[in-house]
Amino acid sequence: MAGSRRRVLLVDLDPHGSMTYYFGFKPDQQQKGVYTLFENPNLSSDAIMELTLPTEERNLSLLPSSMALATLDRQLSTQDGMGLMLKKVLDKVADRFEMVLIDCPPVLGVLMVNALAACDHVVIPVQTEFLALQGLERMDSSMQMVGKALKSTFPHTIVPTLFDRRTRACIQALRTLREDYGDRVWRSVIPVDTRFRDASLAHIPASTLAPECRGVDSYKRLLKYLLSVTK
Ligand SMILES: Nc1ncnc2c1ncn2[C@@H]1O[C@H](COP(=O)(O)OP(=O)(O)OP(=O)(O)O)[C@@H](O)[C@H]1O
Ligand SMILES: [Mg+2]
Repeated sequence: MAGSRRRVLLVDLDPHGSMTYYFGFKPDQQQKGVYTLFENPNLSSDAIMELTLPTEERNLSLLPSSMALATLDRQLSTQDGMGLMLKKVLDKVADRFEMVLIDCPPVLGVLMVNALAACDHVVIPVQTEFLALQGLERMDSSMQMVGKALKSTFPHTIVPTLFDRRTRACIQALRTLREDYGDRVWRSVIPVDTRFRDASLAHIPASTLAPECRGVDSYKRLLKYLLSVTK
């Protein structure tokens, strides 16, 4: 997306901070970031922009995670309107970006509620493996619970990932996924591609390291699909 010259903001809402780490920043050393927004929900749009970090990719900035995010559940879960905090903040900078991607922890809590309330479309990557299918069931019921509370049915796409067509277990898991979730599942898959591991080792996007590899090609097709359903 950023590769196609559109301004993109990445929001790392996962206390583990893998995405922040990926771009060369240490989540445990970030003084400011997405946590600051929850502490000060009335920041101006300029102040919010100051919390974003540039990455080596043009047009791609990051609102970093920090370990403190893990404490939000305790601090916020009883406050009124706590689920809408991220949405309110992102609305203020919406005109500065073409797209905002929020990486969210897989467990139901304040962070997931905020991510769901702020987004137009939920992308649910699911490893083509049986344990992951169980995780999807939990994610699905979380989404329904939050949907009831927020009076929204979240448009979403389930994306089968790490697919290895030589492995029976993968093929079987993909079949079950399609049987159980039908057209909620993207019609294609993201294959296992070792170039992704090379890219994360090098801390650069796979689309920069290996623009021609199969995995990147699949993500490009996914992006095209998502853009067509979210317009
Ligand atoms: N399709 C793929 N093929 C091979 N390796 C992959 C693929 N997708 C991801 N990986 C590897 O797995 C790592 C973790 O992937 P990703 O961050 O998407 O997983 P995650 O489940 O969100 O992890 P976390 O729990 O850290 O948030 C990547 O950095 C990459 O090295
Ligand atoms: Mg993750």
